[in-house]
Amino acid sequence: MVPLRATFGRLAALALTSALLTSCKPAHRFWQRHTRAGRAEVAAQRAHAARVQRGRVTYVRYCALCHRADGLGYAADHANALANQQFLAVASPAFLRSAIVDGRPGTPMSAWGRVHGGPLDDRTVDDLVVFLRSRARVPRVDVEHVHVSGHPDDVRALWIERCKNCHGATGEGSTTATSLTHPNFLHTVSDGYLRYTITHGRPGTPMQSFPALPAQTVDDLVALIRSMQHFPGPPPPPNYEPPPGLDHLVLNPTGGPPNFTLREGRFVSSADVAQALHDGRRMVILDARATSDWSRSHIAGALPFPFYDIQDMTGRLPHDGTWILAYCACPHAASGHVVDELRTRHFANTAVIDEGIGFWESHGYPVAHAAIVGAPADAVVGAPPAVVAPSAVGPKP
Ligand code: HEC
Ligand code: HEC
Repeated sequence: MVPLRATFGRLAALALTSALLTSCKPAHRFWQRHTRAGRAEVAAQRAHAARVQRGRVTYVRYCALCHRADGLGYAADHANALANQQFLAVASPAFLRSAIVDGRPGTPMSAWGRVHGGPLDDRTVDDLVVFLRSRARVPRVDVEHVHVSGHPDDVRALWIERCKNCHGATGEGSTTATSLTHPNFLHTVSDGYLRYTITHGRPGTPMQSFPALPAQTVDDLVALIRSMQHFPGPPPPPNYEPPPGLDHLVLNPTGGPPNFTLREGRFVSSADVAQALHDGRRMVILDARATSDWSRSHIAGALPFPFYDIQDMTGRLPHDGTWILAYCACPHAASGHVVDELRTRHFANTAVIDEGIGFWESHGYPVAHAAIVGAPADAVVGAPPAVVAPSAVGPKP
């Protein structure tokens, strides 16, 4: 009996000590300093803090322009709230990584990964994901395993009544809300994430919760969203040549200056720019988006001048009164930032192209894409809309 009692006593003492060491702060610090496991814990915490800090620096440089420095979103257009707790509850690291690397082509959200010609390598993206996740104050909800079956037809009327105003007739998104039917989103989002978001909403954003909808109706909405994927899955991205430098910045170097009338002293219309290109006017056109967007499709003759690299690049621009125009997809956030910086540095003739690249493309004005590795110089690739050969300048015939 006695040895048994002694063993119990020892076990109880051990349990008490480890409880004390892990719950009471000074005792925990003592444990961290004087045990191997404790020192390993400290090293892991330091490494995590360093990754969060690196992620924060990347976030401020590349993401805050649209998603806001504090992560509450909507600094530009419908860039959502990345620090929203109901978002972080369901956004897995894999979901975040793919949203960042592959982006949402066709929206202002660029593909930031190196694989697409963007500026961020895998390690930088991983640090960014660790930073975004570090802002979660609520535990992750396990939604990945949830699979939903529903009947899209039963909720089409409900969609038109309750969702269409913000997310668009077929979920393509609008100036107030994200797209729901972009293939890059639907390929990575789980049914459980969609169901959770519809039920819980995103407090503090325009996305309200719909707790009163019966569970089956929510599942029908999930099925409807899946059925509306608005264009086929993205083709595998071609392997683009790296973006060129700024050697041939000035378009039509021997041409006369264009005669622009600016709206609000700041914006020039796409039609006026297309006309000036057609007339062979001297100017510079800067693409203010991430380099991956430039590779995919850009205004013919424009060079990549991403907003996040502007400090290093302005010294290369002509300071002789040549018109310098900037554009992006937002349509004004990144390009506006570039033009503000140029004006601060006293460049005389600068303007934002008013409507952005989406408008330019859909109106059939001349576009080009980066050269593709291994393709003949004049090859035309069908991925982006209305694409002409790289470096082609001038209007469409
Ligand atoms: C030029 C503006 C802009 C910049 C810069 C930008 N984003 Fe976005 N981002 C958006 C928009 C707009 C969306 C919504 C796209 C849509 O409608 O599908 C978005 C979507 C996202 C999403 C998906 C959210 C969801 O719920 O589906 C993530 C994650 C994200 N951005 C992270 C980032 C990170 C990280 C960076 C910096 C590397 C960044 N974004 C830079 C505009 C931007
Ligand atoms: C008043 C505008 C508005 C209405 C109406 C609305 N939403 Fe949203 N929705 C938003 C916004 C804005 C977001 C992004 C919020 C954020 O910043 O996280 C969003 C996000 C979402 C998301 C997550 C998207 C993502 O990329 O993570 C889903 C799913 C969604 N809404 C479904 C619906 C459905 C289904 C309805 C109708 C029953 C609906 N919404 C009605 C504005 C709206």
